[in-house]
Amino acid sequence: MCGIVGYVGTRKVVPVLLAGLRRLEYRGYDSAGIVYNHQNRLVRHRASGKLSELEAVLDDHIGVESSIGLGHTRWATHGAPTELNAHPHSDCTGDLVVVHNGIIENYSSLREALKQKGHTFCSETDTEVLAHLIEEHLIDDLAAATRAALAQVEGSYALAVLWAKDPETIVAARRQSPLVLGTDAEACYLASDIPALLPYTREVVFLDDGELAVLGKGQYSIRQLADGSEVHKESTTIDWTATMAEKGGHRHFMLKEIYEQPIAIRSTINGRIMPETGRILLPGLGISDEVLTGIKRIVLVACGTSWHAALVAKYWLEKWTAIPVEVDIASEFRYRHLLLHEQVLTLVISQSGETADTLAGMRRAAQFGSPVLAICNAVGSTMAREADGILYTHAGPEISVASTKAFTCQLTTLFLFTLYLAQLRQSIDPAVQKELGLQLIQLADVMSALIKPMQKNMQAIIESYYEARDFLFIGRGLNYPIALEGALKLKETSYIHAEGYAGGELKHGPIALIDADMPLLALAPQDSSYPKTISNVQEIKARQARLIVVGSEGDSQLAELSRHHIFLPKVHEELNPILYALPVQLLAYEIAARRGCDVDQPRNLAKSVTVE
Ligand code: G6P
Repeated sequence: MCGIVGYVGTRKVVPVLLAGLRRLEYRGYDSAGIVYNHQNRLVRHRASGKLSELEAVLDDHIGVESSIGLGHTRWATHGAPTELNAHPHSDCTGDLVVVHNGIIENYSSLREALKQKGHTFCSETDTEVLAHLIEEHLIDDLAAATRAALAQVEGSYALAVLWAKDPETIVAARRQSPLVLGTDAEACYLASDIPALLPYTREVVFLDDGELAVLGKGQYSIRQLADGSEVHKESTTIDWTATMAEKGGHRHFMLKEIYEQPIAIRSTINGRIMPETGRILLPGLGISDEVLTGIKRIVLVACGTSWHAALVAKYWLEKWTAIPVEVDIASEFRYRHLLLHEQVLTLVISQSGETADTLAGMRRAAQFGSPVLAICNAVGSTMAREADGILYTHAGPEISVASTKAFTCQLTTLFLFTLYLAQLRQSIDPAVQKELGLQLIQLADVMSALIKPMQKNMQAIIESYYEARDFLFIGRGLNYPIALEGALKLKETSYIHAEGYAGGELKHGPIALIDADMPLLALAPQDSSYPKTISNVQEIKARQARLIVVGSEGDSQLAELSRHHIFLPKVHEELNPILYALPVQLLAYEIAARRGCDVDQPRNLAKSVTVE
């Protein structure tokens, strides 16, 4: 949802900005722009479309002698994705520019007032008011003018400002949109997310809401926006490496991330299960065992793929801990009449830890005194820092907009948390817990052996179905959310209309869609709902749908009933959702790649949705 980069130091700035934007492009890719200070003048380049369009414009400027600048990659909210609406936005003089991620809610009244004062606007964006508002307050201190301007602003922002007359300073501020500083001896960096900083530094400082930072060559200071008082913050050393955010020989990040799942799951489990006893250890959870023992209800809150992980967790938590569980989409939860109190645990799940609705949901829950536990992938994200407790997923940086490894790591973490809670409340037989723990440890090896042959064997299916217009997915029990996830993955990467249903719901409407042209993928492992799923499969076959089944190795009955099958090894049925996520992810990837879609950056989407 828009990516910001900034640099002030000793290097040539254009390549640093472009490399940063490349790593943030997943946040928005409607248009992009940069600005740098060249001989005390600000030079701005912008282009609509993908970053490659901007790179083409910048061909002759790569080596320009400038070591301070800002960059932006946009996901349009106000105004079409044209060059004029691309950031950076400038004041009337062209001496002051702003890049921004967020939404300025009172921009139209500000814009009118500024126009009355003689300011001329060039774009349809909300951001442009920031440049003019700061101009209005600016005498000789950019930080003071930015603070004064932001006092008049309502809405959310991560922003950075550059002024031609202060050629060694970047001013940045945040409210409800992420911003992180990177530091080394000679330079300061600024970015919406850590991967943009990794080629240069792993020392980072997370800016919090209501803070303003002044960046110079190798030095920075942070103040409160409200009263200007100085804030002292420790830096954090990030253990992700730069190569972790690269494609590593794969055609797309999505495929690389699908392949990385066994390693990511191993890292997520690492040190959390004692193999001898199966005991679960979650050190540094941040919520005491005493509080967890007294929990009477759990509310899971998330968006998108993370919400699908929450749906799976409901089955696990209710079965193994006997605690009632509700699952809510964050954008609904935040505006619902909530019945929460100190004995209701709110569990928020988010890859990025920055999704605006999930953040708002967790803040509302906290107002009721509900302890909040976050399951996040992004280290130091807002959610991770604000929640009472945090469980990291350790999937490493996920770049593809369509989430894959973060999802299976969320499932893994939720399963570990279920076992932990069950162990605390003594609601599980220790022998069963040990067995489940051991099977979870082995699952990564099972997946590792599977991916390559599955990708190869799937090619016939891809050729038969890549031109489909619609697709149905069904699953039951733990696999129902995987049907939803399969449909979501396919629609977002390939633009094929796809729907996921609980197998039992088929008769209540979707079956009307089935004819000889309709592809349908049934998740049909030999688990406790198998007999019911087989009945569904029979009903589908009777209506001649183009049926693909994903089932257990050696299931000849299924093979006979279907046109195509993908068989998976048998694992403990509780772990099926993690395993069965693989074929639906790969199917979506392969179909999207076969259709020539922009797999990693599907149209209209962004990886991190930091606006409501
Ligand atoms: C966007 C992404 C999805 C993601 C969802 C929730 O829609 O494209 O992949 O599942 O946001 O994001 P979060 O970071 O909160 O998991």
